[in-house]
Amino acid sequence: MVRTLGIWLTIMVAAAAAGRCGEPEPALDPDRAAAERGRHALLIQGFLKPDWTESAYRAVGSQWPTPAPDPERDQARYAERFRERYGLHPAPFPNDGLPMGLRRGRNPDGGKSGLQIDCLVCHGGSIGGKSYVGLGNTQLDLRALLYDLTRADGRRLPLSTFVLNTSRGTNNAGQIAAFLISLRNPDLSIRRFPLPLGADLPECDTPAWWHLKRKRTMYYDGRTDARSVRTNMQFLLGEKTLEELKSLEPTFRDVRAFILSLEPPRYPFAVNAETSARGKEVFAANCARCHGTYGPGGRYPSKIIPIDVVGTDRARLLGLSDRLVAHFNSTWFAEPLPVQTERTGYQAPPLDGLWATAPYLHNGSVPTLHALLDSKTRPARFTRPRSTGFEHYDTHHVGWKYTEIGSEELARPRSAFEAGFYFDSSRRGLGNQGHTFGDHLTEAERMDLIEYLKTL
Ligand code: HEC
Ligand code: HEC
Repeated sequence: MVRTLGIWLTIMVAAAAAGRCGEPEPALDPDRAAAERGRHALLIQGFLKPDWTESAYRAVGSQWPTPAPDPERDQARYAERFRERYGLHPAPFPNDGLPMGLRRGRNPDGGKSGLQIDCLVCHGGSIGGKSYVGLGNTQLDLRALLYDLTRADGRRLPLSTFVLNTSRGTNNAGQIAAFLISLRNPDLSIRRFPLPLGADLPECDTPAWWHLKRKRTMYYDGRTDARSVRTNMQFLLGEKTLEELKSLEPTFRDVRAFILSLEPPRYPFAVNAETSARGKEVFAANCARCHGTYGPGGRYPSKIIPIDVVGTDRARLLGLSDRLVAHFNSTWFAEPLPVQTERTGYQAPPLDGLWATAPYLHNGSVPTLHALLDSKTRPARFTRPRSTGFEHYDTHHVGWKYTEIGSEELARPRSAFEAGFYFDSSRRGLGNQGHTFGDHLTEAERMDLIEYLKTL
Protein backbone atom coordinates (compact mmCIF):
# COMPACT_ATOMS: atom_id res chain seq x y z
CA MET A 1 0.00 0.00 0.00
CA VAL A 2 2.71 2.46 1.06
CA ARG A 3 4.68 1.48 -1.99
CA THR A 4 1.82 2.01 -4.43
CA LEU A 5 1.10 5.35 -2.79
CA GLY A 6 4.77 6.26 -3.21
CA ILE A 7 4.70 5.39 -6.89
CA TRP A 8 1.45 7.22 -7.39
CA LEU A 9 2.87 10.36 -5.76
CA THR A 10 6.01 10.04 -7.86
CA ILE A 11 3.89 10.09 -10.98
CA MET A 12 1.82 13.00 -9.70
CA VAL A 13 4.86 15.12 -8.81
CA ALA A 14 6.51 14.30 -12.12
CA ALA A 15 3.31 15.19 -13.98
CA ALA A 16 3.10 18.50 -12.12
CA ALA A 17 6.72 19.29 -12.95
CA ALA A 18 6.18 18.35 -16.58
CA GLY A 19 3.05 20.51 -16.69
CA ARG A 20 5.06 23.54 -15.60
CA CYS A 21 7.64 23.38 -18.35
CA GLY A 22 5.30 22.04 -21.02
CA GLU A 23 7.54 19.07 -21.83
CA PRO A 24 7.29 15.55 -20.51
CA GLU A 25 10.05 14.81 -18.01
CA PRO A 26 11.34 11.46 -16.78
CA ALA A 27 9.64 10.32 -13.55
CA LEU A 28 11.44 11.50 -10.41
CA ASP A 29 13.58 8.94 -8.66
CA PRO A 30 12.19 7.88 -5.26
CA ASP A 31 14.58 10.10 -3.26
CA ARG A 32 13.63 13.19 -5.25
CA ALA A 33 9.94 12.38 -4.99
CA ALA A 34 10.29 11.97 -1.20
CA ALA A 35 12.22 15.25 -0.98
CA GLU A 36 9.47 16.98 -2.93
CA ARG A 37 6.79 15.59 -0.61
CA GLY A 38 8.91 16.67 2.38
CA ARG A 39 9.30 20.17 0.96
CA HIS A 40 5.56 20.43 0.55
CA ALA A 41 4.84 19.10 4.05
CA LEU A 42 7.35 21.45 5.66
CA LEU A 43 6.85 24.65 3.67
CA ILE A 44 3.24 24.53 2.52
CA GLN A 45 1.26 22.19 4.73
CA GLY A 46 2.60 22.59 8.30
CA PHE A 47 1.86 20.24 11.23
CA LEU A 48 0.93 22.20 14.34
CA LYS A 49 -2.31 23.74 15.56
CA PRO A 50 -2.44 27.53 15.92
CA ASP A 51 -0.93 28.86 19.13
CA TRP A 52 -1.83 32.53 18.67
CA THR A 53 -4.85 34.26 17.13
CA GLU A 54 -4.80 35.83 13.66
CA SER A 55 -4.90 39.30 15.17
CA ALA A 56 -1.76 38.77 17.31
CA TYR A 57 0.39 39.51 14.24
CA ARG A 58 -1.28 42.88 13.72
CA ALA A 59 -1.60 43.77 17.42
CA VAL A 60 1.98 43.03 18.39
CA GLY A 61 3.29 46.27 16.84
CA SER A 62 1.78 48.27 19.69
CA GLN A 63 4.47 46.81 21.97
CA TRP A 64 7.36 48.14 19.87
CA PRO A 65 9.27 51.09 21.32
CA THR A 66 8.82 53.25 18.20
CA PRO A 67 5.41 53.58 16.50
CA ALA A 68 4.60 50.71 14.13
CA PRO A 69 3.32 51.30 10.58
CA ASP A 70 -0.39 50.58 10.16
CA PRO A 71 -0.69 46.80 9.72
CA GLU A 72 -3.71 47.13 7.40
CA ARG A 73 -2.90 50.16 5.26
CA ASP A 74 0.86 49.74 5.12
CA GLN A 75 1.20 45.97 5.11
CA ALA A 76 4.60 45.79 3.41
CA ARG A 77 6.27 48.22 5.82
CA TYR A 78 4.62 46.56 8.80
CA ALA A 79 5.87 43.17 7.62
CA GLU A 80 9.38 44.56 7.23
CA ARG A 81 9.38 46.08 10.74
CA PHE A 82 8.02 42.80 12.13
CA ARG A 83 10.88 40.88 10.53
CA GLU A 84 13.47 43.34 11.82
CA ARG A 85 12.02 43.33 15.32
CA TYR A 86 12.20 39.55 15.73
CA GLY A 87 15.01 38.68 13.30
CA LEU A 88 12.94 36.86 10.68
CA HIS A 89 13.37 36.72 6.90
CA PRO A 90 11.04 36.91 3.89
CA ALA A 91 9.69 33.46 3.01
CA PRO A 92 11.07 32.16 -0.33
CA PHE A 93 7.79 30.23 -0.81
CA PRO A 94 4.09 31.21 -0.58
CA ASN A 95 3.38 31.89 3.11
CA ASP A 96 0.31 34.16 3.36
CA GLY A 97 2.52 37.26 3.57
CA LEU A 98 4.06 35.97 6.81
CA PRO A 99 7.83 35.80 7.35
CA MET A 100 9.62 32.45 7.08
CA GLY A 101 9.19 30.53 10.36
CA LEU A 102 5.74 31.89 11.18
CA ARG A 103 2.70 30.33 9.52
CA ARG A 104 -1.01 29.74 9.72
CA GLY A 105 -1.74 26.89 12.13
CA ARG A 106 -3.35 23.69 10.87
CA ASN A 107 -6.65 22.72 12.44
CA PRO A 108 -7.75 19.09 12.86
CA ASP A 109 -10.30 19.58 10.03
CA GLY A 110 -7.43 20.51 7.67
CA GLY A 111 -8.33 24.21 7.59
CA LYS A 112 -5.86 26.87 8.63
CA SER A 113 -6.23 29.73 11.09
CA GLY A 114 -4.27 31.55 13.76
CA LEU A 115 -0.49 31.55 13.93
CA GLN A 116 2.18 29.02 14.69
CA ILE A 117 5.95 28.84 14.46
CA ASP A 118 7.71 26.05 12.59
CA CYS A 119 11.19 24.59 12.09
CA LEU A 120 12.18 27.53 9.86
CA VAL A 121 11.95 30.08 12.64
CA CYS A 122 15.42 28.71 13.52
CA HIS A 123 16.33 26.82 10.33
CA GLY A 124 15.46 29.56 7.82
CA GLY A 125 17.94 32.40 7.31
CA SER A 126 19.07 34.92 4.77
CA ILE A 127 22.29 36.41 3.52
CA GLY A 128 22.84 39.30 1.14
CA GLY A 129 19.10 39.83 0.79
CA LYS A 130 18.32 36.25 -0.24
CA SER A 131 16.44 33.80 1.97
CA TYR A 132 17.48 30.16 2.28
CA VAL A 133 15.57 27.27 3.78
CA GLY A 134 18.13 25.40 5.88
CA LEU A 135 20.48 28.29 6.66
CA GLY A 136 20.52 28.77 10.45
CA ASN A 137 18.76 31.96 11.52
CA THR A 138 21.50 34.11 13.07
CA GLN A 139 19.19 37.09 13.66
CA LEU A 140 16.33 35.47 15.56
CA ASP A 141 15.18 36.85 18.91
CA LEU A 142 13.02 33.86 19.83
CA ARG A 143 12.21 35.09 23.31
CA ALA A 144 10.90 38.45 22.09
CA LEU A 145 8.84 36.76 19.36
CA LEU A 146 7.16 34.22 21.67
CA TYR A 147 6.60 36.67 24.52
CA ASP A 148 5.31 39.55 22.40
CA LEU A 149 2.83 37.36 20.48
CA THR A 150 1.55 35.87 23.74
CA ARG A 151 1.11 39.34 25.26
CA ALA A 152 -0.58 40.55 22.06
CA ASP A 153 -3.19 37.84 22.65
CA GLY A 154 -3.74 39.18 26.16
CA ARG A 155 -2.41 36.01 27.73
CA ARG A 156 -0.09 35.69 30.70
CA LEU A 157 3.48 34.69 29.92
CA PRO A 158 4.37 31.11 30.83
CA LEU A 159 6.75 30.63 33.72
CA SER A 160 10.19 30.50 32.20
CA THR A 161 12.38 27.89 33.80
CA PHE A 162 15.39 28.32 31.52
CA VAL A 163 17.13 30.80 29.19
CA LEU A 164 15.60 30.77 25.69
CA ASN A 165 18.21 33.20 24.36
CA THR A 166 20.19 36.11 25.78
CA SER A 167 21.44 37.31 22.42
CA ARG A 168 19.97 37.38 18.92
CA GLY A 169 20.84 34.37 16.82
CA THR A 170 21.39 31.80 19.53
CA ASN A 171 18.45 29.76 20.84
CA ASN A 172 17.89 27.01 23.33
CA ALA A 173 16.19 24.41 21.13
CA GLY A 174 17.88 21.69 23.19
CA GLN A 175 16.35 22.71 26.48
CA ILE A 176 12.94 23.26 24.86
CA ALA A 177 13.03 19.65 23.63
CA ALA A 178 14.29 18.46 27.03
CA PHE A 179 11.45 20.29 28.75
CA LEU A 180 8.81 18.86 26.42
CA ILE A 181 9.93 15.26 26.93
CA SER A 182 10.17 15.75 30.70
CA LEU A 183 6.38 16.23 30.61
CA ARG A 184 5.88 12.74 29.16
CA ASN A 185 6.17 9.28 30.66
CA PRO A 186 8.22 6.62 28.85
CA ASP A 187 5.02 5.57 27.00
CA LEU A 188 4.63 9.28 26.05
CA SER A 189 1.44 9.74 28.07
CA ILE A 190 1.26 13.25 29.51
CA ARG A 191 2.51 14.05 33.03
CA ARG A 192 1.21 16.85 35.21
CA PHE A 193 4.63 17.56 36.68
CA PRO A 194 7.93 17.35 34.81
CA LEU A 195 10.30 14.48 35.51
CA PRO A 196 13.47 15.71 37.23
CA LEU A 197 15.95 14.90 34.46
CA GLY A 198 18.68 17.36 35.40
CA ALA A 199 19.20 18.65 31.85
CA ASP A 200 20.72 22.13 31.72
CA LEU A 201 21.44 22.96 28.10
CA PRO A 202 22.65 26.40 26.99
CA GLU A 203 21.60 28.50 23.98
CA CYS A 204 23.36 27.51 20.73
CA ASP A 205 23.79 28.63 17.13
CA THR A 206 21.56 26.75 14.64
CA PRO A 207 23.51 24.43 12.28
CA ALA A 208 22.99 24.51 8.51
CA TRP A 209 20.71 21.72 7.29
CA TRP A 210 22.75 21.04 4.14
CA HIS A 211 25.41 19.37 6.32
CA LEU A 212 23.12 16.55 7.33
CA LYS A 213 23.67 14.53 4.16
CA ARG A 214 27.39 14.24 4.93
CA LYS A 215 26.99 13.22 8.56
CA ARG A 216 26.89 9.77 10.12
CA THR A 217 26.02 11.29 13.49
CA MET A 218 24.28 14.57 14.20
CA TYR A 219 23.77 17.34 16.74
CA TYR A 220 26.75 19.21 18.12
CA ASP A 221 27.89 16.37 20.35
CA GLY A 222 27.42 13.75 17.62
CA ARG A 223 25.58 11.32 19.93
CA THR A 224 22.56 10.80 17.66
CA ASP A 225 22.51 8.68 14.50
CA ALA A 226 22.06 11.08 11.55
CA ARG A 227 19.47 8.68 10.03
CA SER A 228 17.10 9.22 12.94
CA VAL A 229 13.76 10.55 11.74
CA ARG A 230 11.93 10.44 15.06
CA THR A 231 14.51 12.69 16.73
CA ASN A 232 13.48 15.45 14.30
CA MET A 233 9.91 15.17 15.60
CA GLN A 234 10.61 16.18 19.21
CA PHE A 235 9.08 19.63 18.78
CA LEU A 236 5.72 18.01 18.05
CA LEU A 237 5.64 16.88 21.69
CA GLY A 238 3.97 20.18 22.54
CA GLU A 239 0.66 18.80 21.26
CA LYS A 240 0.83 15.35 19.61
CA THR A 241 -0.07 11.99 21.15
CA LEU A 242 1.98 8.87 20.50
CA GLU A 243 -0.58 7.72 17.90
CA GLU A 244 -0.39 11.07 16.09
CA LEU A 245 3.41 10.98 16.16
CA LYS A 246 3.38 7.49 14.67
CA SER A 247 1.11 8.57 11.85
CA LEU A 248 3.36 11.57 11.09
CA GLU A 249 6.56 9.52 10.90
CA PRO A 250 6.33 8.88 7.13
CA THR A 251 5.90 12.63 6.59
CA PHE A 252 9.02 13.28 8.63
CA ARG A 253 10.91 10.67 6.64
CA ASP A 254 10.06 12.85 3.64
CA VAL A 255 11.08 16.02 5.51
CA ARG A 256 14.44 14.38 6.17
CA ALA A 257 14.72 13.53 2.44
CA PHE A 258 14.06 17.20 1.71
CA ILE A 259 16.77 18.26 4.17
CA LEU A 260 19.18 15.84 2.47
CA SER A 261 18.42 17.46 -0.89
CA LEU A 262 19.56 20.95 0.18
CA GLU A 263 22.73 22.48 -1.25
CA PRO A 264 24.77 25.34 0.23
CA PRO A 265 24.85 28.69 -1.62
CA ARG A 266 28.09 29.54 -3.46
CA TYR A 267 30.35 32.36 -2.35
CA PRO A 268 29.11 35.33 -4.41
CA PHE A 269 32.29 37.45 -4.51
CA ALA A 270 35.58 37.00 -6.37
CA VAL A 271 38.05 34.38 -5.14
CA ASN A 272 41.75 34.53 -5.97
CA ALA A 273 42.53 31.17 -7.55
CA GLU A 274 46.26 31.23 -6.80
CA THR A 275 45.85 32.14 -3.12
CA SER A 276 43.07 29.62 -2.71
CA ALA A 277 45.21 26.85 -4.25
CA ARG A 278 47.90 27.56 -1.64
CA GLY A 279 45.20 27.61 1.05
CA LYS A 280 44.04 24.18 -0.04
CA GLU A 281 47.49 22.83 0.88
CA VAL A 282 47.31 24.49 4.29
CA PHE A 283 43.88 22.90 4.77
CA ALA A 284 45.10 19.44 3.76
CA ALA A 285 47.98 19.64 6.22
CA ASN A 286 46.12 21.13 9.20
CA CYS A 287 42.37 20.65 8.97
CA ALA A 288 41.33 17.80 6.69
CA ARG A 289 42.00 15.02 9.22
CA CYS A 290 39.05 16.31 11.25
CA HIS A 291 36.91 18.20 8.71
CA GLY A 292 37.40 15.99 5.63
CA THR A 293 38.04 16.94 2.02
CA TYR A 294 35.92 18.92 -0.44
CA GLY A 295 35.18 19.02 -4.12
CA PRO A 296 34.69 15.94 -6.35
CA GLY A 297 35.46 12.76 -4.40
CA GLY A 298 35.47 14.70 -1.11
CA ARG A 299 35.25 12.57 2.02
CA TYR A 300 33.86 13.60 5.37
CA PRO A 301 34.99 11.46 8.34
CA SER A 302 32.16 12.40 10.79
CA LYS A 303 34.59 12.51 13.74
CA ILE A 304 33.71 13.41 17.29
CA ILE A 305 36.68 15.14 18.89
CA PRO A 306 37.28 14.71 22.64
CA ILE A 307 36.45 17.87 24.57
CA ASP A 308 39.98 18.15 25.97
CA VAL A 309 41.33 18.24 22.41
CA VAL A 310 38.90 20.75 20.91
CA GLY A 311 38.67 22.78 24.15
CA THR A 312 35.55 24.79 23.26
CA ASP A 313 32.78 25.74 25.72
CA ARG A 314 31.63 22.64 27.63
CA ALA A 315 28.14 23.68 28.72
CA ARG A 316 26.40 22.12 25.70
CA LEU A 317 28.27 18.85 26.16
CA LEU A 318 27.72 18.58 29.91
CA GLY A 319 24.16 19.98 29.85
CA LEU A 320 22.73 16.86 28.22
CA SER A 321 22.33 14.87 31.44
CA ASP A 322 22.55 11.08 31.70
CA ARG A 323 19.03 10.97 33.12
CA LEU A 324 17.63 12.87 30.12
CA VAL A 325 19.38 10.51 27.70
CA ALA A 326 18.14 7.46 29.64
CA HIS A 327 14.57 8.81 29.61
CA PHE A 328 14.71 9.69 25.89
CA ASN A 329 16.12 6.22 25.16
CA SER A 330 13.20 4.61 27.01
CA THR A 331 10.65 6.19 24.62
CA TRP A 332 9.37 5.59 21.08
CA PHE A 333 11.75 8.31 19.82
CA ALA A 334 14.81 6.16 20.43
CA GLU A 335 13.36 2.71 19.69
CA PRO A 336 15.21 2.24 16.41
CA LEU A 337 18.22 4.49 17.04
CA PRO A 338 19.08 5.34 20.68
CA VAL A 339 21.27 8.28 21.73
CA GLN A 340 24.84 7.28 22.62
CA THR A 341 25.15 7.03 26.39
CA GLU A 342 28.80 8.13 26.34
CA ARG A 343 29.77 11.78 26.35
CA THR A 344 32.90 12.53 24.27
CA GLY A 345 33.16 16.02 22.85
CA TYR A 346 31.97 17.87 19.75
CA GLN A 347 31.65 16.70 16.18
CA ALA A 348 34.00 18.39 13.70
CA PRO A 349 31.32 19.68 11.30
CA PRO A 350 31.39 19.64 7.50
CA LEU A 351 32.45 23.06 6.21
CA ASP A 352 30.32 23.26 3.03
CA GLY A 353 28.84 26.73 2.57
CA LEU A 354 31.02 27.94 5.47
CA TRP A 355 31.13 31.52 4.15
CA ALA A 356 27.37 31.86 4.80
CA THR A 357 27.23 30.37 8.29
CA ALA A 358 29.07 32.93 10.46
CA PRO A 359 29.24 33.36 13.43
CA TYR A 360 31.28 30.24 14.12
CA LEU A 361 31.45 27.39 16.65
CA HIS A 362 28.44 25.62 18.13
CA ASN A 363 27.58 28.66 20.22
CA GLY A 364 28.21 31.31 17.55
CA SER A 365 30.86 32.91 19.75
CA VAL A 366 33.35 33.83 16.99
CA PRO A 367 32.25 36.39 14.38
CA THR A 368 34.81 35.69 11.61
CA LEU A 369 36.99 32.89 10.22
CA HIS A 370 40.07 34.97 10.85
CA ALA A 371 39.25 35.22 14.57
CA LEU A 372 38.49 31.49 14.64
CA LEU A 373 41.92 30.73 13.17
CA ASP A 374 43.83 33.12 15.46
CA SER A 375 42.29 32.63 18.87
CA LYS A 376 44.01 35.56 20.62
CA THR A 377 42.21 38.03 18.34
CA ARG A 378 38.70 36.79 19.26
CA PRO A 379 36.57 39.57 20.73
CA ALA A 380 35.12 38.84 24.19
CA ARG A 381 32.11 41.14 23.71
CA PHE A 382 30.96 42.30 20.35
CA THR A 383 28.00 43.51 18.37
CA ARG A 384 25.99 41.20 16.16
CA PRO A 385 25.18 42.63 12.69
CA ARG A 386 21.97 44.64 12.38
CA SER A 387 20.90 42.48 9.46
CA THR A 388 22.33 39.80 7.18
CA GLY A 389 22.79 42.33 4.35
CA PHE A 390 26.17 42.35 2.64
CA GLU A 391 26.86 45.84 4.01
CA HIS A 392 27.61 44.04 7.30
CA TYR A 393 29.64 41.25 5.70
CA ASP A 394 33.43 41.14 5.95
CA THR A 395 34.92 39.55 2.81
CA HIS A 396 38.48 39.98 4.10
CA HIS A 397 38.18 38.14 7.41
CA VAL A 398 35.07 36.26 6.23
CA GLY A 399 32.09 36.58 8.52
CA TRP A 400 30.29 39.46 10.18
CA LYS A 401 31.76 42.90 10.79
CA TYR A 402 31.60 43.74 14.46
CA THR A 403 32.60 46.33 17.00
CA GLU A 404 33.96 45.36 20.40
CA ILE A 405 31.91 46.64 23.28
CA GLY A 406 33.09 47.64 26.75
CA SER A 407 31.64 46.24 29.97
CA GLU A 408 30.21 49.71 30.67
CA GLU A 409 28.12 49.68 27.49
CA LEU A 410 27.18 46.05 28.06
CA ALA A 411 25.80 46.86 31.50
CA ARG A 412 23.80 49.83 30.23
CA PRO A 413 22.33 49.13 26.80
CA ARG A 414 20.17 51.86 25.25
CA SER A 415 17.20 49.48 25.23
CA ALA A 416 16.30 45.82 25.56
CA PHE A 417 16.16 45.73 21.76
CA GLU A 418 19.75 47.01 21.51
CA ALA A 419 20.90 44.54 24.18
CA GLY A 420 19.86 41.71 21.84
CA PHE A 421 22.68 42.72 19.50
CA TYR A 422 25.36 42.35 22.19
CA PHE A 423 27.18 39.06 22.31
CA ASP A 424 28.91 38.44 25.63
CA SER A 425 31.19 35.41 25.66
CA SER A 426 31.31 35.40 29.47
CA ARG A 427 27.70 34.22 29.63
CA ARG A 428 26.99 30.58 30.38
CA GLY A 429 27.54 28.42 27.33
CA LEU A 430 28.81 31.26 25.15
CA GLY A 431 32.56 30.96 25.86
CA ASN A 432 34.81 31.58 22.83
CA GLN A 433 37.81 29.52 23.96
CA GLY A 434 39.33 26.45 22.31
CA HIS A 435 39.74 25.26 18.71
CA THR A 436 43.26 26.69 18.56
CA PHE A 437 44.19 24.64 15.48
CA GLY A 438 44.90 27.74 13.38
CA ASP A 439 46.99 29.60 15.95
CA HIS A 440 50.39 28.29 14.84
CA LEU A 441 49.89 29.31 11.18
CA THR A 442 51.71 32.35 9.80
CA GLU A 443 49.43 35.25 8.88
CA ALA A 444 50.14 34.54 5.18
CA GLU A 445 49.13 30.89 5.56
CA ARG A 446 46.00 31.89 7.46
CA MET A 447 44.92 34.32 4.73
CA ASP A 448 45.57 31.70 2.04
CA LEU A 449 43.50 29.21 4.04
CA ILE A 450 40.63 31.70 4.40
CA GLU A 451 40.66 32.25 0.63
CA TYR A 452 40.29 28.50 0.16
CA LEU A 453 37.51 28.24 2.76
CA LYS A 454 35.44 30.69 0.68
CA THR A 455 35.22 28.06 -2.05
CA LEU A 456 33.70 25.26 0.08
C1 HEC B 1 14.06 26.88 18.43
C2 HEC B 1 14.92 26.68 17.28
C3 HEC B 1 14.78 25.40 16.49
C4 HEC B 1 13.63 24.86 15.98
C5 HEC B 1 12.22 25.40 16.07
C6 HEC B 1 14.04 23.65 15.29
N1 HEC B 1 15.39 23.48 15.41
FE1 HEC B 1 16.47 21.96 14.60
N2 HEC B 1 18.13 22.61 15.59
C7 HEC B 1 18.19 23.77 16.33
C8 HEC B 1 19.48 23.82 17.01
C9 HEC B 1 19.97 24.91 17.93
C10 HEC B 1 20.16 22.63 16.66
C11 HEC B 1 21.50 22.15 17.22
C12 HEC B 1 21.16 21.39 18.49
C13 HEC B 1 22.34 20.81 19.26
O1 HEC B 1 23.08 20.00 18.72
O2 HEC B 1 22.46 21.18 20.42
C14 HEC B 1 19.28 21.92 15.74
C15 HEC B 1 19.62 20.72 15.11
C16 HEC B 1 18.82 20.09 14.16
C17 HEC B 1 19.25 18.97 13.35
C18 HEC B 1 20.62 18.31 13.36
C19 HEC B 1 21.53 19.04 12.41
C20 HEC B 1 22.96 18.56 12.43
O3 HEC B 1 23.62 18.73 11.41
O4 HEC B 1 23.45 18.07 13.45
C21 HEC B 1 18.17 18.62 12.56
C22 HEC B 1 18.13 17.51 11.52
C23 HEC B 1 17.09 19.52 12.89
N3 HEC B 1 17.53 20.40 13.86
C24 HEC B 1 15.83 19.46 12.34
C25 HEC B 1 14.75 20.24 12.78
C26 HEC B 1 13.38 20.05 12.34
C27 HEC B 1 12.91 19.05 11.31
C28 HEC B 1 12.63 20.98 13.01
C29 HEC B 1 11.13 21.20 12.97
C30 HEC B 1 10.31 20.05 13.30
C31 HEC B 1 13.55 21.73 13.86
N4 HEC B 1 14.81 21.25 13.69
C32 HEC B 1 13.16 22.79 14.65
C33 HEC B 1 17.21 24.73 16.44
C34 HEC B 1 15.88 24.52 16.12
C1 HEC C 1 41.39 17.83 16.00
C2 HEC C 1 40.27 18.08 15.11
C3 HEC C 1 40.18 19.42 14.44
C4 HEC C 1 41.14 20.07 13.67
C5 HEC C 1 42.57 19.62 13.39
C6 HEC C 1 40.51 21.25 13.17
N1 HEC C 1 39.22 21.35 13.61
FE1 HEC C 1 37.89 22.76 13.11
N2 HEC C 1 36.55 21.98 14.41
C7 HEC C 1 36.73 20.83 15.14
C8 HEC C 1 35.61 20.64 16.03
C9 HEC C 1 35.39 19.49 17.00
C10 HEC C 1 34.75 21.74 15.82
C11 HEC C 1 33.43 22.04 16.54
C12 HEC C 1 33.78 22.82 17.80
C13 HEC C 1 32.61 23.51 18.45
O1 HEC C 1 31.69 23.94 17.75
O2 HEC C 1 32.64 23.67 19.67
C14 HEC C 1 35.37 22.55 14.79
C15 HEC C 1 34.82 23.71 14.28
C16 HEC C 1 35.35 24.41 13.20
C17 HEC C 1 34.72 25.52 12.56
C18 HEC C 1 33.37 26.12 12.93
C19 HEC C 1 32.31 25.61 11.99
C20 HEC C 1 30.99 26.26 12.18
O3 HEC C 1 30.14 26.06 11.33
O4 HEC C 1 30.77 26.97 13.17
C21 HEC C 1 35.53 25.92 11.54
C22 HEC C 1 35.29 27.05 10.56
C23 HEC C 1 36.68 25.07 11.58
N3 HEC C 1 36.55 24.16 12.61
C24 HEC C 1 37.75 25.21 10.71
C25 HEC C 1 38.95 24.52 10.89
C26 HEC C 1 40.14 24.78 10.11
C27 HEC C 1 40.23 25.79 8.99
C28 HEC C 1 41.10 23.96 10.59
C29 HEC C 1 42.54 23.88 10.18
C30 HEC C 1 43.37 24.99 10.55
C31 HEC C 1 40.49 23.16 11.65
N4 HEC C 1 39.21 23.54 11.80
C32 HEC C 1 41.15 22.16 12.34
C33 HEC C 1 37.81 19.97 15.04
C34 HEC C 1 38.98 20.25 14.39
